[in-house]
Amino acid sequence: MSAGVFLLALVVLIGPATEALDNGLALKPTMGWLHWERFMCNIDCDKDPDNCISERLYMQMADVMVKEGWKEAGYEYVCIDDCWPSHQRDAQGRLQADPKRFPGGIKKLADYVHSKGLKLGIYADVGKNTCAGYPGSLGYYETDAQTFADWGVDLLKFDGCYMDRTLLGEGYINMSHALNKTRRSILYSCEWPLYEWPIRQPNYTAIRETCNHWRNFDDVFDSWSSVKSILDWTASHQDIIVPSAGPGGWNDPDMLVIGNFGLSHDQQESQMALWAIMAAPLLMSNDLRDICPRSKELLQNRRIIAISQDPLGKQGYRTLKVDSFEVWERPLSKNQLAIAILNKQEIGGPRGYVIGAVPGWKTCDPLCNVTQILPQYKEMGIQTPHSSLVISVNPSGTALLTVTPISKLHWQNMSVKHKHPTIL
Ligand code: GLA
Repeated sequence: MSAGVFLLALVVLIGPATEALDNGLALKPTMGWLHWERFMCNIDCDKDPDNCISERLYMQMADVMVKEGWKEAGYEYVCIDDCWPSHQRDAQGRLQADPKRFPGGIKKLADYVHSKGLKLGIYADVGKNTCAGYPGSLGYYETDAQTFADWGVDLLKFDGCYMDRTLLGEGYINMSHALNKTRRSILYSCEWPLYEWPIRQPNYTAIRETCNHWRNFDDVFDSWSSVKSILDWTASHQDIIVPSAGPGGWNDPDMLVIGNFGLSHDQQESQMALWAIMAAPLLMSNDLRDICPRSKELLQNRRIIAISQDPLGKQGYRTLKVDSFEVWERPLSKNQLAIAILNKQEIGGPRGYVIGAVPGWKTCDPLCNVTQILPQYKEMGIQTPHSSLVISVNPSGTALLTVTPISKLHWQNMSVKHKHPTIL
């Protein structure tokens, strides 16, 4: 274990270094759906009525989320991204939805989403304009916060385009206060550090006090190179960003693109596994009306979701990089551990990894129980620190495991039946 990883392990054991935004929200990583990666700024409802940014899209997603088991699996927020507003504010200076694409308005849409037992997210920008050129909130933080509260919005994604970077912090903090002042519980998703990195290292203490999650790095695209670049950035900045994550505030590596066009199934498993290890918000950007059964099963996998939502609320991190394998580990409640083994070699076939080399394998002293969750669910039985289990991992795929420590005393007290679960 390197000195950096050791220090990180220590911080992760002790707890987040700073106080979270005290709005009682995001005690676990947010789960839901967000339109951007899949639907972008498609506003042509005449030519493409099924895929354009319109109230219909969110209503249909909400319907499917309830009917197809997404809500039951934990996905709760239906989120609008950029390109929803009209280019003009109303006579009172309030943002208004594009009247053609949102004839019912956002309040009606929020009521609809709430009637399904789900929550509605919306998007705005700390600067003069949104990234796609719609009106920004600069000069209107209180008005916009109050408008969103009046509409019954439950989450705000606040982007950072068209803003003087030296004033970013002030802007994000002022909007946080404005949201608080409305007294409505509105989850606050920021992009503050992403826009701050080019000028200086962000102050994660202030960010955690201000936001419920925060984007650090580039937008995710529907490609393996994009997912890899996010993982690389995260691992190379983990000493700085991991300590700031915990209940109430999370690092956001951007949307899950599982169920789209660009990732093989192994790569989709890698994204799901690593997003769970990173305690990342699980915001899918895909078309839930038309998704292949394997992607759906992966996104709804209860065992992976349990890792993501683990009550200890610690973010995992990369602990090893050897022979194009990467090992990531996340401490879980009840002294359990999640281990992800990613095979980054994009040539050849499945490769074996000897798990005894993983730093967290010490959890198996004197004994542990190992369950493989990906690529297939498999009980791997009781193991010792000296077990030479070999885990097979496909190119650009990930094996995800949980390790549960067993004390000697517990082992002695276990019935024979439980000691040999597989032969009964
Ligand atoms: C930025 C954000 C994206 C998305 C677009 C919308 O690029 O990082 O997530 O919100 O703006 O224009």
